[in-house]
Amino acid sequence: MPKAKVTFADNGVTVTVSAGTRLIEVSEQAGASIVYGCREGECGTCLIKIVSGGENLAEASVLEDEVLKNMLAHRDQRLACQAQVLGGEIIVKPLT
Ligand code: FES
Repeated sequence: MPKAKVTFADNGVTVTVSAGTRLIEVSEQAGASIVYGCREGECGTCLIKIVSGGENLAEASVLEDEVLKNMLAHRDQRLACQAQVLGGEIIVKPLT
């Protein structure tokens, strides 16, 4: 199974995870500080900045897209509870 390397810009921790892992789960493994609420892509609490490697994340679902639009999120922001890693390297930065 492909692996992805995810680095958290806030604490500098890098973890290697299997493709398909959601960023919120990666965060828990890394001890990073992503704050979350519903974990179902509805509340928007887990908004996170993708510093680089956004192309290594699965496309946002219709639900995630809608929440991001409603929050007026920037193009480099995703919901950590929804965004799944595909492989390669990704650098993220928690916003809270
Ligand atoms: S935790 Fe609610 S949208 Fe991610």
